[in-house]
Amino acid sequence: MRLCLKKASLTCLSGLRRGNRGSGVPPTLNLCRESQLPTLRFHLTGTKYSCGSGGCGACTVMVSRYDPKTKKIHHYPVTACLVPICSLHGAAVTTVEGVGSIKTRIHPVQERLAKCHGTQCGFCSPGMVMSIYTLLRNHPEPTPEQITEALGGNLCRCTGYRPIVESGKTFCAVSNDKKYFFNSCTSLSISEVPFVFCFVEMCTKLYNEDEFQPFDPTQEPIFPPELIRMAEDPNKRRLTFRGKRTTWITPVNLNDLLELKTSFPEAPIIMGNTAVGPSIKFRDEFHPVFISPLGLQELYFVDSTDDGVTIGAGYSLAQLNDALHFIVSEQPKEKTKTYHALLKHLRTLAGAQIRNMATLGGHVVSRPNYSDLNPILAAGNATINLISKEGKRQIPLDGRFLEKSPEANLKSEETVLSVYIPHSTQWHFVSGLRIAQRQENAFAIVNAGMSVKFEDGTDTIKELQMFYGSVGPTVVSASKTCQQLIGRKWNDQMLSDACRLVLDEIYIPPDAEGGMVEYRRTLIISLLFKFYLKVRRGLNKMVRTTSLGLWAPWPPGHEPAHEGMPGNKITCFVREQCVDPHQPPQDPVGHPVMHQSAIKHTTGEAVFVDDMPPISQELFLAVVTSTRAHAKIILIDTSAALALPGVVDVITAEDVPGDNSYQGEIFYAQNEVICVGQIVCTVAADTYAHAKEAAKKVRIVYEDLEPRIITIEVQHNSFLSAEKKIEQGDVEQAFKYVDQIIEGKVHVEGQEHFYMETQTILAIPQEEDKEMVCTYVTLGTYLFQEYVAAALNIPRNRIACHTKRAGGAFGGKVSKPALLGAVSAVAAKKTGRPIRFILERGDDMLITAGRHPLLGKYKIGFMNNGVIKAADIEYYINGGCSPDESELVMEFMVLRSENAYYIPNFRCRGRPCKTNLPSNTAFRGFGFPQGIVVGEAYITAVASQCDLTPEQVKEINMYKRTSRTAHKQTFNPEPLRRCWKECLEKSSFSARKLAAEEFNKKNYWKKRGLAAVPMKFTVGMPTAFYNQAAALVHIYLDGSVLVSHSGCELGQGLHTKMIQVASRELNIPESYIHLSETNTTTVSNATFTAGSMGADINGKAVQNACQILKARLEPVIRKNPRGTWEVWISEAYKESISLSTTGYFKGYQTNMDWKKGEGNAFPYFVYGASCSEVEVDCLTGAHKLLRTDIFMDAAFSINPAVDIGQIEGAFVQGMGFYTIEELKYSPEGVLYSRGPDDYKIPTVTEIPEEFNVTLVHSQNPIAIYSSKGLGEAGMFLGSSVLFAIYDAMAAARRERGLTKTFTLSSPATPELIRMTCVDQFTDMVRLVRRAPC
Ligand SMILES: Cc1cc2nc3c(=O)[nH]c(=O)nc-3n(C[C@H](O)[C@H](O)[C@H](O)COP(=O)(O)OP(=O)(O)OC[C@H]3O[C@@H](n4cnc5c(N)ncnc54)[C@H](O)[C@@H]3O)c2cc1C
Ligand code: FES
Ligand code: FES
Repeated sequence: MRLCLKKASLTCLSGLRRGNRGSGVPPTLNLCRESQLPTLRFHLTGTKYSCGSGGCGACTVMVSRYDPKTKKIHHYPVTACLVPICSLHGAAVTTVEGVGSIKTRIHPVQERLAKCHGTQCGFCSPGMVMSIYTLLRNHPEPTPEQITEALGGNLCRCTGYRPIVESGKTFCAVSNDKKYFFNSCTSLSISEVPFVFCFVEMCTKLYNEDEFQPFDPTQEPIFPPELIRMAEDPNKRRLTFRGKRTTWITPVNLNDLLELKTSFPEAPIIMGNTAVGPSIKFRDEFHPVFISPLGLQELYFVDSTDDGVTIGAGYSLAQLNDALHFIVSEQPKEKTKTYHALLKHLRTLAGAQIRNMATLGGHVVSRPNYSDLNPILAAGNATINLISKEGKRQIPLDGRFLEKSPEANLKSEETVLSVYIPHSTQWHFVSGLRIAQRQENAFAIVNAGMSVKFEDGTDTIKELQMFYGSVGPTVVSASKTCQQLIGRKWNDQMLSDACRLVLDEIYIPPDAEGGMVEYRRTLIISLLFKFYLKVRRGLNKMVRTTSLGLWAPWPPGHEPAHEGMPGNKITCFVREQCVDPHQPPQDPVGHPVMHQSAIKHTTGEAVFVDDMPPISQELFLAVVTSTRAHAKIILIDTSAALALPGVVDVITAEDVPGDNSYQGEIFYAQNEVICVGQIVCTVAADTYAHAKEAAKKVRIVYEDLEPRIITIEVQHNSFLSAEKKIEQGDVEQAFKYVDQIIEGKVHVEGQEHFYMETQTILAIPQEEDKEMVCTYVTLGTYLFQEYVAAALNIPRNRIACHTKRAGGAFGGKVSKPALLGAVSAVAAKKTGRPIRFILERGDDMLITAGRHPLLGKYKIGFMNNGVIKAADIEYYINGGCSPDESELVMEFMVLRSENAYYIPNFRCRGRPCKTNLPSNTAFRGFGFPQGIVVGEAYITAVASQCDLTPEQVKEINMYKRTSRTAHKQTFNPEPLRRCWKECLEKSSFSARKLAAEEFNKKNYWKKRGLAAVPMKFTVGMPTAFYNQAAALVHIYLDGSVLVSHSGCELGQGLHTKMIQVASRELNIPESYIHLSETNTTTVSNATFTAGSMGADINGKAVQNACQILKARLEPVIRKNPRGTWEVWISEAYKESISLSTTGYFKGYQTNMDWKKGEGNAFPYFVYGASCSEVEVDCLTGAHKLLRTDIFMDAAFSINPAVDIGQIEGAFVQGMGFYTIEELKYSPEGVLYSRGPDDYKIPTVTEIPEEFNVTLVHSQNPIAIYSSKGLGEAGMFLGSSVLFAIYDAMAAARRERGLTKTFTLSSPATPELIRMTCVDQFTDMVRLVRRAPC
């Protein structure tokens, strides 16, 4: 949809806001789902709402404005959640609906994203489409770099980004790497492959470029002429939008702005709203008046003189970027050092959307302590041009301004007109340095702007400036240090004194916000050292040109590491399977069929729960959660909340008609709270805004209780279940006969699911028979039904549960929706009205928790040749405050603990600990990704003790022939051996390892590391009845077929595969088959869609149903063999043959006897191996993933595109888990990381620069069509990145003469990497510990 926003349309929209009862739109209301404006007025549901803070890109739309000065139209992407609706006066807004739709015509961007398999759950897809589309509007033939740059602000939790980038690159003039489209047969030769379907000549591609409709940029909609007329109207007037509590004023010209600033000195100037917006939303800031000069011509200009450049305050950071690029192309290099420094940081500052919204003036004035630009501007001696009714004045953008000294500040009536940035000079160096948790779109952990001026022709410091960000509440200047170094020579002694002085001057208190105190202090001097080296290199170059010969040569191997600039060179090589040439052409099994909903995902027409139209009388629910980890509830005072407008009720434990505590899970806290984030009550109101406002007014009085258990490091004998143990051989005896014994501990931190669609439930009470209809997103319909029935005390047959699709789940939507469903059903029952319950991102992260953190302990006995004889492993996981899935997670962890290695005397024991944290739950891999790090850690430690490589020790101890696992299940590891061998050979592991060693010898501050990990993963559940599945298939008289089954579509392509199965079994085209949703009225008692089993078990159930129907049709077909499907169906009907049936799969007959510690726990195993290479910056802790090769045993893939998507997506999710994703809690158990600002999942810049994925064939007759479940297995392969980082860190430590073995933990964050690569700077920080001044 294209919205052409004139005042009239705004006025008309205001009265229609959902549930607002015509009270008018607050002027600050944002243009996104949160506002419900587009939904209501036009039912525009394509733009998704995921974080509300500008950090995920799900809500990306394109804004177009006409510039009357240049007569050009400017298109740019924005995150709608931060765009105030009033700021769009005169702009055209294009949402995904306006790009293309199934009803009219889909756009090539939408088509290609879908056909390249760039969507899984589809929740991020409209945002991805809008980012690429906007880029194409400005650059119809973009470069590959522009594609990755455009996608930097869009998060996807499912795909791993490769196919999204690939779809974008199909628009590039010359596709830079033809490998994208290359698919070969398996890398194994035919003779080696026991799989019959492999024929080179029949190889399929993952997609066919020839099918793409051409992209014709001339066919795009034109900019609305009335907006051009409006923009050129010489009689424009001041615009005022008045809401109930706030007023929005858009001045007509600069004088008007100054007038307004005099009348309302406290009113913020809203430009990009990227600083003010989050403050209003998350910090409850309130402003009665907003002044928005956005688009005011006087604030948009570039004025270049001989000395410098003046840039208008209204320039967005993207425009600033373009202007600086132009200037550096025009000016001699020596004049542009400040501009280069700014450009470097502009590339990584936020995502493209924020850079297009945020303005230079807004950035300078808001002065965030993490500002990437202000330290450089200050170091480059920039000045700020101010204007007010009193006149103009200039103030320096210096330390005093940045530190917010009142005398250096703007006066309240002043406006920033522009910023002047002087050119640099010959003997002047300016640099910007930064390190963040993620390369792009992440606030800096520490950043700096530094400059030095030398006396001409010398290395004597004439002027020095250093500004640091993220080291205190403001950007700080190390002015005293700089002062003391004036007159000094630029040499090592000066550096050493500078480090000491700056550490003394910049104090970060031990309890500083953001923590990481030692690391940040180390960064202060590490960045200074980088600057020192850079300047020295510059001086050396100048020496060469001036022949002064003053300085020592550049020290060999001291080239600082590449500074966090993301690599745009992403190449990918996918080898997938080929199908039997004799397979009928219409049989889709084995082909890379596009996701059933892919086109709907990309057009925004796929309906998620939040997209469902408003229901009459519906109420919104907001939660009130505990702020204490363990406390008695003394009082819940709801009076203030109930008094607020729109509030209908407050629901507490007292209102639960049935069980409030079911199977150990408490719906509403009663009498006491057991974690921060536990739901104490909910507020039901006519709008979410009212509910949220009222929730803040509920007063709860607590009395703290002991104990308060937060970590599992100290044992409290507080457990959620009994110990799980497996054991083989005689461990104690074996320890007596080994050459060496090592013991160690491994910490693996937790992980947030960060599914893009937060938990969402719609509970609709029915008039009759206490029925309740619930629509929600989940992996397990029966659990949801069970919890709601328990809470309402009604039979399950009264509860109809529907789930169509989930915007990602990864295990986080197994049990939590059931609890939240019970909470909302109680509210629906009490109020008698439909309840819409959508968790905000912060609440979702707080309440629903995630992957279990693990403490692993090991004792390993081994021979000097690397053979491991005995292992004694203990696992403790932090289960949180309630049972949830913790016991099951521990069972899986213990059962999978040996991974790919045979250790004759092996014992593994584990217990989930009960603590006062929100209850952790299922997460992709179900404990395996954590547990197995312990195994790989002791392998690495053994290798180090034996002077072998970890890969050699892995090879020595890996299962080699048909064997029994430690829990006594027989298996054949042949595919494991093949994956491992192929991985090492095809990735040229040995040669690259040698090359990395060579590289490391030549580089002191950057190190490369390689690691390969093998994997034996399990599929399915050790409890047989969890493996059952059912289906219901109807054939209608027109021949169309409706399939229902017990699995849920979470983006993993389950429904797509089921259609492929039904198509093969019924021998009809896929287009005849429809699959609508999963619900409890068609298929009852459905178990979880989990354990990588969805396609396995539901496929068998669908197959069973189809085969029953086929058998019934057989006589009809025999009678009329030349008939068509439609004719046969018609004849069958006339012969009274039933055309509907259920299908059933009893499940794999697994068993596990925990008393004996043995059993055939799993139906089969999935094998794989991956190898990754990284480069680590020892000075900052940043790393870059250079290459990954994955070999995954897929047996025969039903849909290689879906399976490769799962492998890549899981790998990237695993890589995030092992490297950058870090949950932060206070010692009191308060979760700090509650959104994309604080919790970093990988973006497009984190994926391997070279990414090779191969499906390896094997046989798996037990599963449908000899396939394998691949939903989770790739997750663990991400650990190859963790171990490659450890390899690089080990190289750094070896060179520094440090111990060979060191504690290994996950994630390997920049902090951990930096602090492990101990050097003179870390030593200095540990020595210089001083008390606060
Ligand atoms: C998701 C996200 C990621 C981000 N990542 C980064 C990052 O990596 N690095 C980084 O440095 N920053 C980052 N930022 C911060 C961003 O750079 C600033 O929020 C932005 O520059 C502020 O500009 P704005 O135009 O949006 O300001 P607004 O929010 O519109 O205004 C901010 C303040 O400036 C004042 N103001 C604005 N213009 C003027 C003027 N002309 N005269 C006087 N006062 C004025 C307003 O009164 C207000 O107080 C991020 C922000 C978001 C939302
Ligand atoms: S919802 Fe707007 S950026 Fe996340
Ligand atoms: S497809 Fe991107 S978040 Fe699911």
